[in-house]
Amino acid sequence: MKWILFFGALIGPSICGREKFFGDQVFRINVRNGDEISKLNQLVNSDNLKLNVWKCPSTFGLPVDVLVPSVSLQPVKCFLESQGLEYSVTIEDLQALLDKEGEELQHNERQERSSNNFNYGAYHSLESIYHEMHSIASDFPDLASRVKIGHSFENRSIYVLKFSTGKGRQRPAIWLNAGLHSREWVSQATAIWTARKIVSDYGKDSAITSILEKMDIFLLPVANPDGYVYTHTHNRFWRKTRSLNPGSSCIGVDPNRNWNASFAGEGASSNPCSEVYHGLHAHSEVEVKSVVDFIQEHGNFKCFIDLHSYSQLLMYPYGYTQKKAPDATELDKVAKHAAKVLASLSGTKYQVGSTSTTVYQASGSSIDWAYNNGIKYAFTFELRDTGQYGFLLPADQIIPTAEETWLGLKTIMEHVRDHLY
Ligand SMILES: *[C@@H]1O[C@H](CO)[C@@H](O)[C@H](O)[C@H]1NC(C)=O
Ligand SMILES: *[C@@H]1O[C@H](CO)[C@@H](O)[C@H](O)[C@H]1NC(C)=O
Ligand SMILES: [Zn+2]
Repeated sequence: MKWILFFGALIGPSICGREKFFGDQVFRINVRNGDEISKLNQLVNSDNLKLNVWKCPSTFGLPVDVLVPSVSLQPVKCFLESQGLEYSVTIEDLQALLDKEGEELQHNERQERSSNNFNYGAYHSLESIYHEMHSIASDFPDLASRVKIGHSFENRSIYVLKFSTGKGRQRPAIWLNAGLHSREWVSQATAIWTARKIVSDYGKDSAITSILEKMDIFLLPVANPDGYVYTHTHNRFWRKTRSLNPGSSCIGVDPNRNWNASFAGEGASSNPCSEVYHGLHAHSEVEVKSVVDFIQEHGNFKCFIDLHSYSQLLMYPYGYTQKKAPDATELDKVAKHAAKVLASLSGTKYQVGSTSTTVYQASGSSIDWAYNNGIKYAFTFELRDTGQYGFLLPADQIIPTAEETWLGLKTIMEHVRDHLY
């Protein structure tokens, strides 16, 4: 482990700098039928074009977003036009957006240092998020505590905030997860905002107060800390963990294909270079294993919510099969209600359904594991937006996103409170 850290420091940003995306663009490609999907798969799977898929081809006619490096612009356009595939350019100047985001982040960090105040409307380094988790726990010692549940592959601490009014009694609990995919920055930002919201609203807002009278909430804002640091130091679009793959030079596993739920089935890849590589075995990723062990040891989780971005979807099991989950009717009703309440704030529209029927089949996902292990209320949010900025959602949308998401989360948690089993 020491060697990896040492080596990482040598080839780190001080020498090579963060990866640049000059001239790169994001394309949105419309697919209308199976024939077009297979043409598109041919395109995104051609190694020499070095495309980075932001939003996967699905069987359900949703558009596909791909990052196209400048050197591949001509061949990709040529392919799309010759195959009669409709497309548009959604991000014309990717590097300009990245520069803006980076400048805002640095400017904010300087301001925070001088004011000693965490700005919830900004993106942050892992260190700042961890520090703020510590502050929340020290500001509200009777309600919140910061708990270390394990460490990452590169030996960073994995922290959750525990919110509890139970004074030692083991209560039914809710798991809120964010940042499994490191590039989905609005998910970590929404999670830390949510932590502050819980402590400030407890005792004032009757919904959260009554939820915490009956249940504990555990919130994991950065489920993939190594990946998150890597998105700051090396490549803003890193999705996977940073573990080494024996026999391959490709790094990392998709931590949302690594759970023990139809592991290595449909919708995951056995190729370590793939963005959806499932890993050598279920829970091979220490980040996933840490959550699994914690939840199993606790033994009384009733709800598991996983925050991702982007696409504005609210989904429930299953992902690995198109079969209906036994509780699908209830979960659908809860999710539709949550989406409606969420939309009431500023009109943000969410699509609701099971993962496999809403986007695509995906095996080894967190909520399928939770559901199959007795946690009935299992949901995935894909937060804002629908692709205008994708993973580069401007910081001025963090608070609006977090506020509307909170309404959805509260709706689900109230349902759980009233339907404990
Ligand atoms: C990992 O970090 C902990 C402190 O958080 C330290 O005690 C331990 O020695 C580290 N392990 C390795 C392999 O670097
Ligand atoms: C996965 O779950 C099955 C039961 O469905 C169990 O037999 C197996 O030990 C589990 N594997 C891991 C790695 O937890
Ligand atoms: Zn994700």
